[in-house]
Amino acid sequence: MNAPSDLRQFLDAQEKKSLLRFLTCGSVDDGKSTLIGRLLYDSKLLFEDHLSALEKDSRKFGTTGGDIDFALLVDGLEAEREQGITIDVAYRFFATEKRKFIVADTPGHEQYTRNMATGASNSDLAVILIDARKGVLVQTRRHAYIASLLGLRHVVLAVNKIDLVGYSQDTFDGIVRDFAAFAERLGFASIVPVPISARYGDNVIARSEKTAWYKGPSLLAHLETVDVDTDLVAKPFRFPVQWVNRPNLDFRGFSGTLVGGRIRQGDSIAVAKSGRTSKVKRIVTMDGDLSEAAAGAAVTLVLADEVDISRGDVLSAPEGRPEVSEQFAAHLLWMAEDELLPGRQYLMKIGAASVPVQITTLKHKIDVNTLGEHAAKTLHLNEVGYGNFSTSQPIAFDAYRDNRDTGGFILIDRFTNATVGAGMIDFSLRRATNVHWQALDVDKRSRAEQKGQKPAVLWFTGLSGSGKSTIANLVERALFAEGRHTYLLDGDNVRHGLNRDLGFTDADRVENIRRVGEAAKLFVDAGLIVLVSFISPFRSERRMARELVGEGEFIEVYVDTPLEICMQRDPKGLYKKAQAGEIKNFTGIDSPYEAPEHAELTVDTTTADPADLAAGIVVYLREKGYIA
Ligand code: ADX
Repeated sequence: MNAPSDLRQFLDAQEKKSLLRFLTCGSVDDGKSTLIGRLLYDSKLLFEDHLSALEKDSRKFGTTGGDIDFALLVDGLEAEREQGITIDVAYRFFATEKRKFIVADTPGHEQYTRNMATGASNSDLAVILIDARKGVLVQTRRHAYIASLLGLRHVVLAVNKIDLVGYSQDTFDGIVRDFAAFAERLGFASIVPVPISARYGDNVIARSEKTAWYKGPSLLAHLETVDVDTDLVAKPFRFPVQWVNRPNLDFRGFSGTLVGGRIRQGDSIAVAKSGRTSKVKRIVTMDGDLSEAAAGAAVTLVLADEVDISRGDVLSAPEGRPEVSEQFAAHLLWMAEDELLPGRQYLMKIGAASVPVQITTLKHKIDVNTLGEHAAKTLHLNEVGYGNFSTSQPIAFDAYRDNRDTGGFILIDRFTNATVGAGMIDFSLRRATNVHWQALDVDKRSRAEQKGQKPAVLWFTGLSGSGKSTIANLVERALFAEGRHTYLLDGDNVRHGLNRDLGFTDADRVENIRRVGEAAKLFVDAGLIVLVSFISPFRSERRMARELVGEGEFIEVYVDTPLEICMQRDPKGLYKKAQAGEIKNFTGIDSPYEAPEHAELTVDTTTADPADLAAGIVVYLREKGYIA
């Protein structure tokens, strides 16, 4: 036999093996990296040069004396090695006679939800490591809970360092009992406990004589045979459109990866959101056309008709469409240092679609230790909550339990672009779909015409005591005097009524501004020039208020008075109290103010008189055509 056909045979054999994707989780010292290194090493898949490098490294960094330190195999980066922890998700590929494996190694330190969510999103099984000396820890419960939340249905409980408890069956049985009692409510399809020593290899590849009392499989034997039944092909057809491929006028295809089911040439499809239907004319790939494609395949679909489809649309079968809604309930893992602010707009990425989203109600957060539900106004790093979400336009989705690709999403901070959360959709809230926007005969335009003005929001932002309300008041007086139709929304006043339930935490300020933004929008619709005078300390919410109204209808006025001057003025004596610690979360003292970067107008109250500044704003309105 010649070399190429050897190689072909080898590749064919690899091709036919089933693939198990799994994830390892555990605390920093539970020995995950050592275990993965052991699996790679003992399953003889290490190459010679890797081995000699490893021996060298073990002498340099190892924590195991003269022996090879398997953790070094896995902890890729120098920096991580020096800290002695793994800090990002590392994927390893290995294969045995029976199966191929992709293992995601996720660290157990601070940012574990982020890493677990990343690692779990395409894993089918979780290996949860426990240090036999420590038993089931809070961390173990967290990992198990998050694994279940992320849709992992199979668990291996690897009770590691069994050598350090004298290979004790009692210890092992105790841990298994503890874990089972907790995991009962998590609904895993299988939980297989294995006593192991990653360091010495007991029960990792083969059963160990040192645990003669253990009758189950070795870890590898279990991984090689466990049936995780994740048949994506059996699920309904789902094709999120990644991009519209239009190289020339004669070709228009939709590219993406099937995340459920299969599709054949001639099959009917529907665009989830619009309901438009067509038939599949061609299934195009780099290697030519296919007659059919199944979940996992990356293809370009050419349809028989000109249908309006863009990036982010989801194609399905006409009779098996996903949910389409702008409201849904979901679990959310919070992954950012900054807390979740429910009224804030985040960017939601689901499949290839991105839409602004708000958490309209945070119903509760989950204590991962007891699985109890507690009332919550916000979520902190690594916390899990459940609530209602509202997107700015309808999206197509499935429940996460039905399809992890079309039911899972991430949240992005719109200013920093950081990923701040991962969500799992539970169900669509239908309430929204039977409330329709009512078309009214008298509209914004006719109301504005009647009043002879162009409606707009004059949004005054600045520190407490900066002079916002004084100037806004003078502007309104001047407008009123010349017969304009106006309304002034002032923070102190609105907080006596509409917003009387809100305080000064970040979350409450976000909600404060959200409501005022919505109120201002209604006044603009009424044809008025609305003056809003709120500290409105966050850029995010000012932008949201801006986006609620039309182009040119939002005029941001930054009342730029330095903190020292506001403190000297201290019209209500609040700065004095804040400095004395009598008022908490005071803007400029112990709560932030984010100055505008692109305000339409900036006024300086330290060099000009409020009356002159107000007159200047009226001139601006006249010049820009808001008032004739
Ligand atoms: S905002 O930050 O949510 O926009 P808003 O403009 O409604 O604030 O209210 C600010 C007014 O509330 C201030 O002018 C001040 O009179 C009063 N106030 C009371 N406590 C605080 C506080 N902790 N921080 C800021 N303002 C406060």
